[in-house]
Amino acid sequence: MNNSENTRSGTGELPAGRPLQTDFETGLDYPRLGSVTFRRGTLTDNQEALFNEHWPRLGKVLAEGSDERIDIDGWFGRAGHPTIVEIGSGTGTSTAAMAPLEADTNVVAVELYKPGLAKLLGAVVRGGIDNIRMVRGDGVEVLARMFGEESLDGVRIFFPDPWPKARHHKRRIIQSGTLNLIATRLKPGGVLHVATDHADYAEWIDELVNVEPMLEYKGWPWDEAPMLTDRQVITKFEGKGLDKDHVIREYLWEKK
Ligand SMILES: C[S@@+](CC[C@H](N)C(=O)[O-])C[C@H]1O[C@@H](n2cnc3c(N)ncnc32)[C@H](O)[C@@H]1O
Repeated sequence: MNNSENTRSGTGELPAGRPLQTDFETGLDYPRLGSVTFRRGTLTDNQEALFNEHWPRLGKVLAEGSDERIDIDGWFGRAGHPTIVEIGSGTGTSTAAMAPLEADTNVVAVELYKPGLAKLLGAVVRGGIDNIRMVRGDGVEVLARMFGEESLDGVRIFFPDPWPKARHHKRRIIQSGTLNLIATRLKPGGVLHVATDHADYAEWIDELVNVEPMLEYKGWPWDEAPMLTDRQVITKFEGKGLDKDHVIREYLWEKK
């Protein structure tokens, strides 16, 4: 990594230019972000100061051209604990609420949106939560490049962007390829947990629940699930859905 990458990563900035997009060569479907521009957003002065102080220790940026695996034990400063990756943590409301109840577990929140990460970072620092780390980047690329095969105990995707227009469905994160990628990253017995409040996205997921042979669909609830499956709070996007009388659908799979 050169110096400018180091500096960008230290301030949580994504590398300039086109976002990374792995060619998976599996013949499966993967989300195509197309020309989506990543919302920059701005941080308040307080958030900026807190970010600059704590991000270098608690956060990483998916760097261009890099496929360096994260040293999970080194980053969390403890060995042999289960690790869960949450993709699209948003403002991290449920991430911060769940983490203290799973103190034994390492939680890595992956998000593209810097103000969301800044909010979670604030909750982590103020709450003295020591089992959350953050990665800024596209969750698909982060999983593919920064985590080894069979390295994770869980993957969470709560209220992923529904991309309601038919021509945008290809941008949805739940697709055959993503499910395959997640399955390769999970250890045997690991769990994938997805929630959506979007009826049409739920129908889309219903069609995919058995598409990945390495993932056994468990439905909801699954009382013996080996990880916490209760979000504890109504997340920001869940709340927006409930205001519109949306039904929350939850999905659990076990890696065989
Ligand atoms: C609808 S919001 C839900 C946020 C949060 N989970 C909640 O329930 O409040 C979806 C989030 O996923 C993030 N996101 C979308 N695609 C992503 C990707 N490929 N990798 C990481 N984050 C992504 C968006 O920036 C957004 O914050």
